[in-house]
Amino acid sequence: MSNKMWGGRFSERPDEIMEEINVSIDVDRHLFAQDIAASKAHAAMLASQGIITASDAKNIGKGLDTILSEIGKGDFEFKRALEDIHMNVESRLSELIGPAAGRLHTARSRNDQVATDFRLYVRDIVDETDAALAAFQQALVDRALEHAGTVMPGFTHLQTAQPVTFGHHLLAYVEMAARDRGRFQDARKRLNESPLGAAALAGTSFPIDRHATAKALGFDRPMANSLDAVSDRDFVLETLSAASICAVHMSRFAEEIVIWTSPLVGMIRLSDKFTTGSSIMPQKRNPDAAELVRAKTGRVIGALNGLLIVMKGLPLAYQKDMQEDKQGAMEGFAALSLAIRAMTGMVRDLVPDEARMRLAAGEGYATATDLADWLVRTLKMPFREAHHVTGRIVAKAAESGMALHELPLAEMQAIEPKITRDVLGVLSVESSVKSRTSFGGTAPKNVASQAKAWAKRLEKERKLG
Ligand code: ARG
Repeated sequence: MSNKMWGGRFSERPDEIMEEINVSIDVDRHLFAQDIAASKAHAAMLASQGIITASDAKNIGKGLDTILSEIGKGDFEFKRALEDIHMNVESRLSELIGPAAGRLHTARSRNDQVATDFRLYVRDIVDETDAALAAFQQALVDRALEHAGTVMPGFTHLQTAQPVTFGHHLLAYVEMAARDRGRFQDARKRLNESPLGAAALAGTSFPIDRHATAKALGFDRPMANSLDAVSDRDFVLETLSAASICAVHMSRFAEEIVIWTSPLVGMIRLSDKFTTGSSIMPQKRNPDAAELVRAKTGRVIGALNGLLIVMKGLPLAYQKDMQEDKQGAMEGFAALSLAIRAMTGMVRDLVPDEARMRLAAGEGYATATDLADWLVRTLKMPFREAHHVTGRIVAKAAESGMALHELPLAEMQAIEPKITRDVLGVLSVESSVKSRTSFGGTAPKNVASQAKAWAKRLEKERKLG
């Protein structure tokens, strides 16, 4: 038997391979809720425009509700012979309510249907991701408040650079997550227009009300061009771009956790909840979750690349190639969601080794800049000269195997006679971080007030819902 949805001019069944390459139900079944919501909005609009009768619309609505609950309960049989979610739903509807089901597809096509469903789906993803990122930020802010004054080494080139506070480091990721959320919101604004009623590509001759269906589905407005409505997937690309950047942020943080938990570094410890053991080396505590966050980034970026490649050669309007838009995107979004939740868990779980952090913060002459700044401030030395003098003092200390604050004052004065005892006050890691009070700097006082401001902002957001 040929396909009962479109098989009028066909007399044979499709080849098995044809069916295999053509079906999308395994993937687009995840759009069932959106598909049903869009069909309900469409049917209600058709009735209020007098295109179908009120009683047909009522039966269609009831039937669709039944299908929704059947799928929810796992009582629905998805049939591969029916290709996709749209035809699976419609076919079941006709079993449930008879011929009236056939009126639902008036003035629409699977092309505008799938574009509508997927926009609704991606919109939900954006909202879920936003909530996950807000929870991630909250975890960071809580820990930053706790560690506003905990000194750790700051690195550039992964070499000890200047002391910073652990709270400051954590707040850096709060800022990144805020921009990620902004990017998702930007994508949401642009994607929130309704393709429904664009029909196959040209619009329809029925007197539909696209504004009504757009409103019913929570879209801001209908899309203005029917060709564009059915043929672009830029909303997926844009959301995947935001997701890719966000995943890269997660991955960088995950990489830091891998480094920090290495016994060579030992700055933080993860509990048993976020580590795994080795089957052969009993002493091991592996940061697998962080490693997998790092790796899952590949899936997200891969999904973006994959869809860019699918789209790049397609003429307008709908092409079947576009059916390949969903699987990678769904997997990419799921990978990001897991990565964000895993990072949130690790942020809450990690315990810094404060003594070790403090010690490491002072290694590698991390307060050398403070010494140079002191020479500039107190002796009015030009910075370049101060840099040079400090370099000589550091070399002297290194030669004698001492830290800067351990070097006898006389040794410093042998290099720069105008140096006084007063300099000793700036050489500790605590005084170094305390002095970094410029806006955005690492001083514990700054960090505490930034963390508090973020806590307030997040709370306000939660209240606004
Ligand atoms: N399963 C299809 C997709 O995901 C639905 C649209 C099919 N349209 C068509 N003209 N064959 O793209």
